Amino acid sequence: MKRLIAPLLVALCAAGSLSAQKFEDLAQTPPMGWNSWNHFGCDVTEELIRETADAMVASGMKDAGYTYVNIDDCWHGERDADGFIQPDAERFPSGMKALADYVHSKGLKLGIYSDAGWKTCAGRPGSRGHEYQDALTYARWGVDYLKYDWCNTHALNAEGAYLTMRDALYAAGWPMVFSLCEWGTNQPWEWAKEIGHLWRTTGDIAVCFDCEKDHGSWSSWGVLRILDMQEGLRVHAGPGHWNDPDMMEIGNGMSVSEDRAHFSMWAMLAAPLLAGNDLRTMSEETRRILTNAEVIAIDQDPLGIQGFKYSDDGDLEIWFKPLEDEDWAMCILNRGSTPRQVDFSWQEEKVEDDFANRKTLFGYRVYRVRDLWTGGDMGTTRTPLDVTVPGHDVLMVRLVRLLDEDE
Ligand code: GLA
Repeated sequence: MKRLIAPLLVALCAAGSLSAQKFEDLAQTPPMGWNSWNHFGCDVTEELIRETADAMVASGMKDAGYTYVNIDDCWHGERDADGFIQPDAERFPSGMKALADYVHSKGLKLGIYSDAGWKTCAGRPGSRGHEYQDALTYARWGVDYLKYDWCNTHALNAEGAYLTMRDALYAAGWPMVFSLCEWGTNQPWEWAKEIGHLWRTTGDIAVCFDCEKDHGSWSSWGVLRILDMQEGLRVHAGPGHWNDPDMMEIGNGMSVSEDRAHFSMWAMLAAPLLAGNDLRTMSEETRRILTNAEVIAIDQDPLGIQGFKYSDDGDLEIWFKPLEDEDWAMCILNRGSTPRQVDFSWQEEKVEDDFANRKTLFGYRVYRVRDLWTGGDMGTTRTPLDVTVPGHDVLMVRLVRLLDEDE
């Protein structure tokens, strides 16, 4: 008997360890979509989600690559007698399965939110102790994306708690993008690559270009503050595992140039592009920023290499990002409020990326310079760049590799 049981146990253990993994092949480029939190907070209903899905299609955002329609906190009702979570019956009277079916019928995907602790950040039921039940419930509803928060976790260990939900999702058998939201507190970039597809690197974003908003026990942060917190993290990101500097605030109240700079820098960071505004009523300016195909292509470049800061003189920063076909993106960010004149003599600059093992080789390699916000041709890297970048704005270009001087 013993002889039979031992191989059986080994086989069972092997099967168990095989099933413990994240869903591979998802989020090979940074996820794109929308999330309710930044604009609507707790005010979520099935009507809002349906109308947002409609607007995502009608506005051209779906065609531009936006896919996920994500419900954040406050969709929850109570757990039933067996512990299964139910949506708030007043806000979601048709239920989540019907909502997922609707979103899918538009060619889009549905995301949902929970929390590793006993309660979500807004005090709704958390998943602690119900992980496998919740994962199964989301799978049965046809949910495609889970954002998993970190409020009210007391003594829990972050890696362990996220691992539990990863395994629960995998066991439920329906592929879901798993988005870790523990604000960078436990350095998820060190351990989350095998657990999830993206992890928040910071606390919450706020609608301002450069501010800290004090909420008492915590702060939220403007675009530039969040940008500064990404330092050193690029080596941890790549296809299927992204740094997440939080959802976007474009169209929520900053100026057009600040929104443009925000979008450009998120693209340079290969960040998830999750719009956080009201898609049903957005202005044409906002729509144009969010659907700029050439900027989106920088974010979605298949190599998945996060950009880096090349130079910094205080207000003026120059960023580079290696792209496929030996192209590069370059973004000049003016953090200050007054215009800055920039002279950039390509041939005198040595842009090297040791992490990605790429060099621009401006000395003999020639690139066409294309302005991604005007669509304008700015000549080639044979001629020095001479531009003025307005305050709180960017110049973002794609360097399209032409030829080497000796070719
Ligand atoms: C936390 C998260 C936010 C949002 C709220 C919801 O603050 O970081 O992104 O999900 O909770 O309560």
